[in-house]
This record gives sequence, structure tokens and C-alpha cells, in this order.
Amino acid sequence: MKKLIAGNWKMNGSLAANEALVQAMLAGIGSPKADVALCAPAPYLSQLQLLLNGSPIAWGSQDVSAHEQGAFTGEVSAAMLRDFACRYAIVGHSERRQYHGETDAVVAEKAQRALAAGITPIVCVGETLAEREAGVTEEVVKRQLAAVIHLVGHCITEIVVAYEPVWAIGTGKTATPEQAQAVHAVLRAQLKAATPHPERIQILYGGSMNAANAATLLAQPDIDGGLIGGASLKAPDFLQIVAAANAQ
Ligand code: 13P
Repeated sequence: MKKLIAGNWKMNGSLAANEALVQAMLAGIGSPKADVALCAPAPYLSQLQLLLNGSPIAWGSQDVSAHEQGAFTGEVSAAMLRDFACRYAIVGHSERRQYHGETDAVVAEKAQRALAAGITPIVCVGETLAEREAGVTEEVVKRQLAAVIHLVGHCITEIVVAYEPVWAIGTGKTATPEQAQAVHAVLRAQLKAATPHPERIQILYGGSMNAANAATLLAQPDIDGGLIGGASLKAPDFLQIVAAANAQ
């Protein structure tokens, strides 16, 4: 299966900084074997559309509303993202779950909205440090993914899953390839119960993935790519991760 390397810029960037970053990425991207995408803050999606249209790099949002339209001040609908040709929408990132109270059910609704608009949801799951230490990692990620399977099971092969252990995000503390693979295998098995083609669903790893550790993580049988935070803000680092994915 094709690998996917997706950058999540989080709440970083400016028109000028984005332009420089994207131009540097375009200069070095070549014709990647892997799928590549950048997920920007909503105000910059039109900038990414202008800069990336016709390039090998797709773009996406970091969230999408669970509602179709109407009186939801501050929210951005899937149809709006479609207007800016977003290919992907991250849903259920742990920062949304943690700081904005997003429940498994809301995350599933967001995934459903994205799919209905022809946008691939990147569904994030992952345990906190306390949950890992309590030995409930599997239970947590399976519960998070089950909510999405329950709502969009009929088109589950259209989603991307991202396993992001919360304790590894922005901490420089990466899951070992074995730790990540073990959870990815659990997620793959869960998807297998929902579709005869679980191998078609890209399962990304996210959490302090960088130029130095990408190759060993991406070599694991069930790690189909990466969701990259900090390292997606530096063109050389991001390009090295893409190169590691191309080499698989
Ligand atoms: P870092 O790569 O900065 O740890 O962030 C990972 C992440 O949260 C991507 O969505």
C-alpha cells in the first residue's frame, strides 16, 4: 500500500512563513511515491490551494464541523472545505478531544460529514500516558475507532486512521516501532471485522515522528505513514520523512 505522509501545522504559520515553507517543500518534493499532504489552519486553505494546485502535495484542514450548516459561529463546514479542494480533514485530534471536549460520537459525526463531502477524514485515536500506564491502551483506541466504524462502517475503506499516543505528541518521546506496531495491529484487526479490505486503509503513526526515526517506524508492517506535527514546519525535515516513505 502507498504510504501517506501528512503534515499537521497546528496553530502555526503566517502568509509569509507558509509561502516560504511550501516553496521549499515544492522545490524538493520531486515525484514522490508516497501520498503527501499538508493540513493548515482554515484561513490558509485558499493559500495552500493556490500554491499546491497541480503539485504532488495535497492539502487539508485540521478539523471540520459536525454540522452541515447554520448557526454554529466559528465553525467550518465540510462543504466549505470542499470549496477549497481539501482532500483531507483531520478529525478527533487529541488536542481537540482534550481542549474542546470532543467526544467519540462527535468525532464520528465529523468523519461522516467529511466523507459526505468527498473529503477523506484522518481519524485520530490514541491513549494518554495515564491510560497506557493503567494498561487500557487497546481498550481506548478500540473504543475511539468503534464510534467511527459504527457511524460510517459502509464506507470505512475511505477513511485514514492516525494512531497518536498523546504522551508522544510534541514531547520528543516517540513510541518505539514495536509499541506503535502493536497498536496498529490491533486497529487493523478491528478494521478487518468491518471490511473485507482492511489493508486498503492507511493507518498513520503520529507523535514526535522526525527525520531520524521515520524510517524504522515506517518499516513496520502496519504503519502506513505518518501524521507529522513539529517536523512538518521545517521543509528539510518533512522532505526527509517523505523520502523515508518513498524508500519503503
Ligand atoms: P508532533 O509531531 O509535534 O509530536 O505532533 C504530532 C501530532 O500531533 C500530529 O497531529
